[in-house]
Amino acid sequence: MKKRRIIIDTDPGIDDALAILLALAEPRVTLEAITVTFGNCSLENAQKNALCILELARANQIPVARGAHRPLVQPLLLAPETHGTTGIGYANLPEPSLQIYPEPAVNLLIQKVMDNPGEITIIAIGPLTNIALAVRVEPDFAPAVGEIFIMGGAIRHDGNTTPLAEFNTFCDPHAAHIVFHSGMPITLVPLDVTYQVVFSSADRDRLLEIPSPLTRFISEATRFYMEFHNEYQQIDGCVINDPLALAVSYLPYLVETQELYVDVDISGGVSMGKTYADAYRLLKKEPNMRVALNVHPRKFMEYFLERMEWLAGEIGW
Ligand code: BDR
Ligand code: CA
Repeated sequence: MKKRRIIIDTDPGIDDALAILLALAEPRVTLEAITVTFGNCSLENAQKNALCILELARANQIPVARGAHRPLVQPLLLAPETHGTTGIGYANLPEPSLQIYPEPAVNLLIQKVMDNPGEITIIAIGPLTNIALAVRVEPDFAPAVGEIFIMGGAIRHDGNTTPLAEFNTFCDPHAAHIVFHSGMPITLVPLDVTYQVVFSSADRDRLLEIPSPLTRFISEATRFYMEFHNEYQQIDGCVINDPLALAVSYLPYLVETQELYVDVDISGGVSMGKTYADAYRLLKKEPNMRVALNVHPRKFMEYFLERMEWLAGEIGW
């Protein structure tokens, strides 16, 4: 079995943390690097969280590089009400002893992709600033990316940050614009599908049957996330967007996709950051991505829970 070689570009972030853990628990992928960005929390916290999560999972060999601390053009926006000020809700992880990679994220992205043309899959689960910078710094970067799976956008779904826009595309719409038009083979995993994937308190209790630092971390992080979903969106449980975007890269049957031309609004008005698809080909443009529009949520959740149980057993108590 050929493993998918992946880099996760992320703003951890509660559901980002779950995506990192899932990558470490999945034999069909090799996690080669993590590049961090601002987003759910500050770059400082995002970087610390990425290192702590790797230590929690005993995956100290994976490089973590520091990326953008602000969007390209827009003012900085973080999400403390969703993920807590630290980015990992009520979870408390020890100070990391792991060190950050000595070069900026954009260098690591470019180096990995250019050294392995067509071989690297990027899982982009935060604002797209780091990826857009790599596209602009190295003209041969986009053609050399194997595939990119992006958690972002809301096509036929309400926004979760403005009435129209999803958080990752709203945080840095200009970066999303650069990436969407870069020519990379894109699969978009928008809110249309991720909002079907709800991690419930019953799911959490199932994981807690295994007493381990991993299940305690998941429980404490998601407790905060569940309170947010309950209070702001009347959802019982919490939506775990980011691990779905990862899983789709090796379990494509989890979603149904459509080839579409998709763009993001950067005009600065009420629809700033809104992603829209030209379903009737009115713009006469070739599709620039595959978009996931339907999902089998319980299939995903069963798979996710089984992998977390396995990882908890591996890590030990
Ligand atoms: C996205 O924004 C963040 O809150 C999550 O980590 C996810 O990547 C969902 O809109
Ligand atoms: Ca994220």
